[in-house]
Amino acid sequence: MFRRKFFGITAMAAVALSLAPLYGSAYAATPQAPIPPGAAWWKEAVVYQVYPRSFNDTNGDGIGDLNGITAKLDYLKTLGVDVIWLSPHFDSPNADNGYDIRDYRKVMAEFGSMDDFDRMLAEMKKRGMRLIIDLVVNHSSDEHQWFVESRKSKDNPYRDYYIWRDGKDGGAPNNYPSFFGGSAWEKDEATGQYYLHYFARKQPDLNWENPKVRNEVYDTMRFWLDKGVSGFRMDVIPFISKQNGLSDLPADKLAHPEFVYANGPRVHDYLQEMNREVLSRYDTMTVGEAFGVTFEQAPLFTDARRKELNMIFHFDIVRLDRDGWRKKDWTLPQLKAAYAQIDRTGGTHGWNTSFLTNHDNPRSVSHFGDDSPEWRAVSAKALATMMLTQRGTPFLYQGDELGMTNYPFRGIEDYNDVEVKGQWHDFVESGKVPAEEYLSHLRQTSRDNARTPMQWSAAPNGGFTSGKPWLAVNPNYTRINAASQVEDAGSVYHHYRRLMEVRRQTPALIHGEFRDLDPANPKVFAYTRTLDDKRYLVLINFTRETVVYGLPEGLKIAATVLDNGAAQQPVQPGAASVSLQPWQATIYEL
Ligand code: NOJ
Ligand code: CA
Repeated sequence: MFRRKFFGITAMAAVALSLAPLYGSAYAATPQAPIPPGAAWWKEAVVYQVYPRSFNDTNGDGIGDLNGITAKLDYLKTLGVDVIWLSPHFDSPNADNGYDIRDYRKVMAEFGSMDDFDRMLAEMKKRGMRLIIDLVVNHSSDEHQWFVESRKSKDNPYRDYYIWRDGKDGGAPNNYPSFFGGSAWEKDEATGQYYLHYFARKQPDLNWENPKVRNEVYDTMRFWLDKGVSGFRMDVIPFISKQNGLSDLPADKLAHPEFVYANGPRVHDYLQEMNREVLSRYDTMTVGEAFGVTFEQAPLFTDARRKELNMIFHFDIVRLDRDGWRKKDWTLPQLKAAYAQIDRTGGTHGWNTSFLTNHDNPRSVSHFGDDSPEWRAVSAKALATMMLTQRGTPFLYQGDELGMTNYPFRGIEDYNDVEVKGQWHDFVESGKVPAEEYLSHLRQTSRDNARTPMQWSAAPNGGFTSGKPWLAVNPNYTRINAASQVEDAGSVYHHYRRLMEVRRQTPALIHGEFRDLDPANPKVFAYTRTLDDKRYLVLINFTRETVVYGLPEGLKIAATVLDNGAAQQPVQPGAASVSLQPWQATIYEL
């Protein structure tokens, strides 16, 4: 087993220290300390998600590519990234931007070749970075050879690789809805039977009951692990086991089928088998996308004693204010309650993730911060402080380190997402919801908000491509871009970089106990992280106003570790209260 250097002080730390006085920081490197029990490289790492289509285009076709990722590894290394999670890079007809895989062992032609992949991985390793890839095995593409065979006839040897049923009363076998609109069943002309697809018609669900399917998946996993990848993000993994009998959903479950789809009877058998057969034989990191998994069920996936997954993504933060495509209001106490619950589900034997967005969600600053010109940067830094000081492995999504914002969508024609097209048909074209109502929510909830290309510079198309980008670049790239932020020590980018450095050198911020000091406070998130005799306080003002926060009895600030640039002056050691400036976020040592 190999463990990453835990307390090594790198060249970047020296840079962090030299920048520290800008913020009146009293940050000092932590001296050597014993490695806490339960430590693991994947708990200490910071993960950065790359959505390759929108990351960096090197050949001018308007689509990001693997060589584009390789070209930016120094940028990511300087930021402080330890692990890259690469969204699907496999051969795909792109009905759902790669989440519909045609060949699990081939690189998508638009992204490059296997040689490009090998080079990219070697360059990551050279920099001490690891790579995890997306395992999308609840479904494949309908163009996968298995499905091409499967649909041919009822006695084809691949028939049982997918889920086929006869129709009922002249319609689909049951009332399951697809997440991308319409029924989850599609009638196939060749045999007159229906196949199941929880997502698009072009994403037929694999039949995990069939041991041949499971062995194909395990072989694929070994193929990539043997190449040197360090683990997987597992797409909708709780959905792999289907309900016995596939009966109709009760009416109250139709709007949120994920809570039924995620609860199949054999999901834990399959994950334990996968662990036994594959994961336990390599030094891996695994994170399951746990859509439909409740807080109570979470430990079933992540309790280390059960030997399934290391972590899951809980949806309770990113979906706090959502009902499908509808946006709802949220309050800070609700957000804190979700964090407290998540922290509890990690328990003594599990581990959590910390994330505020990904390729399926709006931009975090537009969602939880304030993306108006005056508050965007400072609120993005406040959110970064929150995300990187939770007890859980942080997953940062590309562009969030710049405080990139939602896109100013106008009409339906500005969207690319397959989900939007299905919903438009189901809700708007059907006359159930007025177009303007749907669009007003979609502007805030659409997945395309996070999928617009990376804003590298003030050059045309934000420096993403020399051609025509596959999805429009946010016009604010002239103001918000990597080149200008790398040059500016006070930028969102440098705040992320400093936070990662502080986290890396402060075991209490990784492993320490989390305690919310004031769950009902509607303006300030105040929590401590404690490990042995080391104790830290994080204060975040979620408003545009100055808020005087009275410290609880007995709690004495000793020093400021890192501030997001909002504090007017350092707090006097031992002060009874802190005057928090708008969107101030500060880590203190107690
Ligand atoms: C979750 C992925 O994150 C999303 O992008 C995709 O559309 C669905 N799973 C289906 O694979
Ligand atoms: Ca390209």
